[in-house]
Amino acid sequence: MYDHGMTGWGYALMALGTLGFWALVALAAMALLRRPAAGPHLPGPTPQQLLAERFARGEIDDDEYYQRLATLEYGGPPQKKRRITMTAQRVLIAYGTKNGATAEIAEWIAEELREQDLDTDVRSAASVRDIAAYDAVVLGGGLYAGRWQRDATGFARRHREALTRRPVWLFSSGPLDASASERDIPPARGVSRIADRLDARDHVTFGGSLTEGAQGFIARQILKQGKGGDFRDREQIRAWAHGIATRLSGSAQPADHG
Ligand SMILES: Cc1cc2nc3c(=O)[nH]c(=O)nc-3n(C[C@H](O)[C@H](O)[C@H](O)COP(=O)(O)O)c2cc1C
Repeated sequence: MYDHGMTGWGYALMALGTLGFWALVALAAMALLRRPAAGPHLPGPTPQQLLAERFARGEIDDDEYYQRLATLEYGGPPQKKRRITMTAQRVLIAYGTKNGATAEIAEWIAEELREQDLDTDVRSAASVRDIAAYDAVVLGGGLYAGRWQRDATGFARRHREALTRRPVWLFSSGPLDASASERDIPPARGVSRIADRLDARDHVTFGGSLTEGAQGFIARQILKQGKGGDFRDREQIRAWAHGIATRLSGSAQPADHG
């Protein structure tokens, strides 16, 4: 047996030390077990939840709720949507007619422009005093012996100044056969001069119409010879008007309503 020279007291102290050590281990274990579960960090209510509670309690109205929520989520209240709309272009269709055919064409053109959301007035050329309210003008005349019916020419003369500052489209109503549907018919000489003076965007010749009840000796002769009829081509007229609407809509000014 080896003797390490330890006395009885030594053994007693060693036993006490061992006991003390295990007692400390036990205490540490108990302390660990008693600690609340070290789960994930449990946060308090988020600002969003607090806000929702205030809203639910009726402390803030929905406007304020959404504004504050936007501030929390995106750093600022939602931008008020800017309402951008196009101001409707106002169009005048003025006509010079003797027997009503050109007036009806003007109405058909207006139908198409209105369908394309253009604010459109149709007026007898003789009745228009002022065109300041209009952004664009369409002027048409029935053809008589190679000239426009005089209300149309008078309109072009009276409003020349104002017309040159607006987009202007011209049309004639004349041929009593299918020619205008089949090919482009150039403007009569006088109409061509008007087109130049007004710097018109376009001129088109539509077929004419001469039917029972037309005024004038020659008109009655034409009808008697069976050379009358309605040669207006609604599709052609509509397509032309559609082209105008497209151009005007493309040039509409945006109106900012804030
Ligand atoms: C006396 C008279 C002269 C006409 N002269 C022409 C003419 O020079 N060129 C033409 O293409 N059509 C001519 N026409 C046909 C008309 O232009 C056609 O009927 C037109 O649609 C009439 O339009 P309004 O009814 O609006 O007056 C003439 C018709 C009449 C009755």
